[in-house]
Amino acid sequence: MIYLDSAATSYYRPPQVADAVADAIRYMGNSSRGTYEAALSTSRVIYRTRCLLDKLFYGDGPEQTAFTMNSTESLNIALKGLLLPGDRVITTVLEHNSVLRPLYELEKQGVEMKIIDCDEDGILDYEAMRQAILQGARLVVCTHASNLTGNLTDIGRIGRWCREQGILFVVDASQTAGIFPINMQTDYIDVLCFTGHKSLMGPQGTGGLCVRKDVKIRPLLSGGSGILTYSKNHPEEMPTALEAGTMNGHGIAGLRAALLYLKEQGAESLRKKEQELAWDFYIRAGKIPGIRFYGDFSDRNRAPIVTLNLGDEDSGAVSDYLATELGIYTRSGGHCAPLLHQRFKTAEQGSVRFSFSHYNTQEDVDAAVKGLKEY
Ligand code: ALA
Repeated sequence: MIYLDSAATSYYRPPQVADAVADAIRYMGNSSRGTYEAALSTSRVIYRTRCLLDKLFYGDGPEQTAFTMNSTESLNIALKGLLLPGDRVITTVLEHNSVLRPLYELEKQGVEMKIIDCDEDGILDYEAMRQAILQGARLVVCTHASNLTGNLTDIGRIGRWCREQGILFVVDASQTAGIFPINMQTDYIDVLCFTGHKSLMGPQGTGGLCVRKDVKIRPLLSGGSGILTYSKNHPEEMPTALEAGTMNGHGIAGLRAALLYLKEQGAESLRKKEQELAWDFYIRAGKIPGIRFYGDFSDRNRAPIVTLNLGDEDSGAVSDYLATELGIYTRSGGHCAPLLHQRFKTAEQGSVRFSFSHYNTQEDVDAAVKGLKEY
């Protein structure tokens, strides 16, 4: 089996991630819910994971990172907890449904939504973004890399424009967290939403949001917190403000092991390997007659994603052939990115996405190119 769907979820993970989850299941207690060793050591693991994430993203301190299940939950918390009827929000056609669907719900409640377009290679219209920001808004939300094309968004540039206008900047780092540099200070990010199971290589069911210190988000959930039990209100202090109920301590232990692995290996060298594999695949697959790629390939510094179609062939049929005949796993269809597919006129056909991990090999690339040629 050759797994080329790391943009959907990591399949190849450092073995210490599974070991950490297994140990946690055997030995963990409930964080903040007891003064005995099993509970206290769970709190320590969770705290140390917050510290690693805070350092990785240059946050405002470990207490400003709250854990969630995934980016979708983080984005729902950020968008629904910051926007009110009458507010204006700016977003882009590059977004995943985890951004778009919460915004469509908010639109029904009276939030005005402005969607910035891109060109035929999926490059954001920065001038339109700049003009929209100058017209004012409560918040801008955009992805750091498209899950369909792999194009990177210049978040530092958008962030600076937002900060100059006093507009909140929320970034969806689903495809980049852990492997691409993100600096909440120099990229002027107010809320960074991430998932643990993609390029961070942690377990599914882990994710979070890092929130700048003076940004107050209304929580979506309230409930048990282990502190201030007699208050009728959920605690307002971060991170408890955004974390109700028992934490996913087992998953967070795995995420911590993944973060330690990334630190030890160095994200830059892992990213370079992924980018080289993706680039080699792009160049060699490009020789196949009738192939069409989606995205901007003028710069090699892109998320390790190559999305394509073979003429008018249905993307599901191509992906299914690769999987069932050759054991090569890719993702086809709409990729939860409806506006970008509409922009590319591929809503019907979909497209076939190949996404690479540093665990992939040159032989995997050879097999994928050969498989496409044979289809
Ligand atoms: N959002 C994930 C993807 O792009 C699941 O495949």
